[in-house]
Amino acid sequence: MPCLLLARGEPAPLTRAHLRQLPATAPRQVVLADAFAMIEEATRSAETRKRRLGEHVAGATAIVADLFDSAALGAGLQRADVDRGTELVLAAVSDVGIGAWLEAVWRHDIGVYQHTLGVAGHAATLGSQIGLSRNDLRRLVRAALLHDIGKSRIPVDILNKPGPLNPEEIRLMQRHPEIGATLLAAQGDIEPEVIDVVRHHHERLDGTGYPDRLAGAAISDLVRIISICDVFSALTERRTYRQPASGPEALAIMVEARGHLDPDLLRAFSPVMLGNSALAA
Ligand SMILES: [Fe+2]
Ligand SMILES: [Fe+2]
Repeated sequence: MPCLLLARGEPAPLTRAHLRQLPATAPRQVVLADAFAMIEEATRSAETRKRRLGEHVAGATAIVADLFDSAALGAGLQRADVDRGTELVLAAVSDVGIGAWLEAVWRHDIGVYQHTLGVAGHAATLGSQIGLSRNDLRRLVRAALLHDIGKSRIPVDILNKPGPLNPEEIRLMQRHPEIGATLLAAQGDIEPEVIDVVRHHHERLDGTGYPDRLAGAAISDLVRIISICDVFSALTERRTYRQPASGPEALAIMVEARGHLDPDLLRAFSPVMLGNSALAA
């Protein structure tokens, strides 16, 4: 069967819109008309995906901003917002992939919201790659969206300081896990596993982390996964005062910092993280 295949630059799954079967005897005008129709459809669907991604990023940024604002004001967080944000991240990442998600996040926002959405994107990618159940995947992304919520109570000039913090500022900054966990515990509608992530995402396997100096088995799997997403995001983010590390550089730094992150999970996640074209450069 003679076959005309038009392929664009993206490894998108082939759908009916991308395939046409024509009899070998089809007149040239019919073949050409079909080819042009396919090009048009492919362009339209790429534009639709791009527009949808923009909407997802804008929606998720607004939700994260609302969550941080509510937390800063001492108002309760809307659980429905957390769930909506989770669905937006999951939909966007499965739609366009983590690379396009990060590109869009980095373009659209700054600072702590950008970091939150980056960590959530990595969590969504890694969680679905290791085949987490629907519920566990949602819990993981929820935890990522909330992990730094305690920063809502840290003075903005410390959060946005373009350069290293002094010891007093570091002490204040290091209170954000406890602040976040206390804030979420007061909510009553956030599951303990998520609060555990918020409180312990800066613990290290060798017991040198904070705030509780937990070590080894005391650090849950969910916390270990978020810690990896958190550090990887932080290292590869675009900041005004330093060049971001590339994906391979960031992973090398993480592997070298022995005793901090779970080495087995790091090994399992490396191919996924390195498969991301936005970070491979
Ligand atoms: Fe943090
Ligand atoms: Fe973080």
